[in-house]
Amino acid sequence: MLSAEIMDYYRLGGERVRLTSGNARLEFLRTWDVLRRVLPPAPADVLDVGGATGVYAGPLAEAGYRVRVVDPVPEHVAAAATRPGVTAVLGDARSLPAADHTADAVLLLGPLYHLPERADRVAAWREAARVVRPGGLVVAATISRFASLFDGFVKGFYRDPRYRPLVEGALDDGVHRNTDMTTGWFTSAYFHHPDELVSEVPEAGLVLRQRVAVEGPVWLTGPRLEQILADPEQTTLMLDMLRATETEPSLLGASSHLLTVATTAGAG
Ligand SMILES: C[S@@+](CC[C@H](N)C(=O)[O-])C[C@H]1O[C@@H](n2cnc3c(N)ncnc32)[C@H](O)[C@@H]1O
Repeated sequence: MLSAEIMDYYRLGGERVRLTSGNARLEFLRTWDVLRRVLPPAPADVLDVGGATGVYAGPLAEAGYRVRVVDPVPEHVAAAATRPGVTAVLGDARSLPAADHTADAVLLLGPLYHLPERADRVAAWREAARVVRPGGLVVAATISRFASLFDGFVKGFYRDPRYRPLVEGALDDGVHRNTDMTTGWFTSAYFHHPDELVSEVPEAGLVLRQRVAVEGPVWLTGPRLEQILADPEQTTLMLDMLRATETEPSLLGASSHLLTVATTAGAG
């Protein structure tokens, strides 16, 4: 299952409030914007793997989807299950507790960036491919190889001498290994180069349709981002501009998160 530090990190309960301000709010608004455009219309069956406390499952259920969350953290499953219209079970993306071809869409918004071994990431993609119906959709989130490098400048993390070795490790092989809970930095994770998705997806028998930059470079604006988010007009402008450039290949690695949209073979 999860490594001890990842489990400890999530058991502290940060996922309940994570997406409510700053970069994480931008991540939510953009992810929601993409999901609304790529998901089949409701009602449809959505399996939200790594769905945490149901941050997306809740709004999806409100929008008329039948949503089931799968997550390895008991506190996440318990919280997700309290959301109206959402069911939730304990489980792992590499071995899903779901029958073949039972979901119209599978979301992997979390598991891939907590699986440092490539074979495990491909196993997660394969499980999604097994569970999705013919013609169905898989949408997966990854974190950029360069995210911690940039984040450290915006947030002043390099002042702590423990930070730079973490960044250098991630730049080297994608593995951000942070077992020290006292740092307050993100727990152990895998940071994808955008081009890795081009081979991971077909290896699982899926067809890559789109790689979408979630935040683009806008997440690097620091405190200015809060001002933008506090102003509805500026927020709309920002979302329009990010939408206009979301699949531009030269910008993919500058985004903190990427969403990869894949379908089963033979889908339109
Ligand atoms: C940062 S949270 C993201 C939660 C939510 N999906 C979102 O996008 O905001 C990552 C989630 O992935 C889950 N996770 C980590 N490894 C996993 C695995 N192997 N299988 C399924 N879920 C996993 C964690 O428990 C956590 O809920």
